Amino acid sequence: MFNKRSTILLVTGNAAVVLIKKELCAMPTDPQANENTYVLDNESAAEMARLMYQDRLLTKGMGGLFSELSDVSHMHDILDIACGPGGWVLDVAYQYPKINVVGVDMSRIIIEYAKAQAWSQGLENASFRIMNVLNKLDFPDNSFDLVNARFLFGFMLPTAWPKLLQECLRITRPGGLIRLTECEMPITNNFAFEKLGSMFTQALHLAGQSFSPDGRNIGITPVLGGLLRDAGYHNIQERANSLAASVGLEAYQSFYQNFQIAYKLAEPFLTKLKVTTPEEFAEVYNQAMAEAMLDNFRAVWYYLTVSGEKAAPQAPPG
Ligand SMILES: C[S@@+](CC[C@H](N)C(=O)[O-])C[C@H]1O[C@@H](n2cnc3c(N)ncnc32)[C@H](O)[C@@H]1O
Repeated sequence: MFNKRSTILLVTGNAAVVLIKKELCAMPTDPQANENTYVLDNESAAEMARLMYQDRLLTKGMGGLFSELSDVSHMHDILDIACGPGGWVLDVAYQYPKINVVGVDMSRIIIEYAKAQAWSQGLENASFRIMNVLNKLDFPDNSFDLVNARFLFGFMLPTAWPKLLQECLRITRPGGLIRLTECEMPITNNFAFEKLGSMFTQALHLAGQSFSPDGRNIGITPVLGGLLRDAGYHNIQERANSLAASVGLEAYQSFYQNFQIAYKLAEPFLTKLKVTTPEEFAEVYNQAMAEAMLDNFRAVWYYLTVSGEKAAPQAPPG
């Protein structure tokens, strides 16, 4: 029924319909740790659909899977942290059949879906595990040539970053790489869309989940390089990418659907933090979504990818 590289997620209009074969749902999974600081509901089918739009947008906006790295074909093991439904892991596994690619995520439903995708696409070099990355990472020292992570801002508290980066350093092989991609909110020419963005950054700030001093930004992009330096990585490199997502452009549809779902799912977080009321949210959300369909809607989304190396052992003198 499913081709190699086909997807088992069907998205019809606004509704996400998840089809996971029964026997795959019964696959054994790892125990789930309980702390959850993610601001959206990561056990919902709508979030899984959104993460698939986001994956496509991000990979496109970044110019490919490893656009800033010259060659990864010598690598043996790659980890993707908070992998979501596994789009990046599956693409890497498909493109590099000799590399073992592992994705970890704390959501059971998402990991079951990603495992089903790997199985249906015949990708034996892709595997997935349930793991809460706020805890010690369940891998031996020096396990990976590359540790990749994209968009962790939705669950990482500023105080959690140093611990996670130390853990990533521990499991990276000497000479190996870490590669983090984070963003700020997109910039648009629409008042209501901007208002939703500022409600979100304000709520993150009030929840203590932001590096911004005043909640005007997420604030993660200016600090990322320093976080890697402080954790002991070397040769820190930064590369910015932009995704043009105005009406009529290729990325527009996925951009629209990503934010249509994201802001709807963010409503409980926004109202809990009291940056809006249910009545105000409904009005601004409906206006933003209607106006973002008009021909004059313009949007751009910037990402920052920061990489660092784990020092290789020095050769003894003489
Ligand atoms: C933070 S985003 C990651 C997006 C993904 N890396 C990508 O490139 O599209 C959403 C994912 O993070 C996962 N997540 C949230 N908190 C987590 C945690 N503490 N440990 C592991 N995964 C987590 C969610 O389950 C969800 O699948």
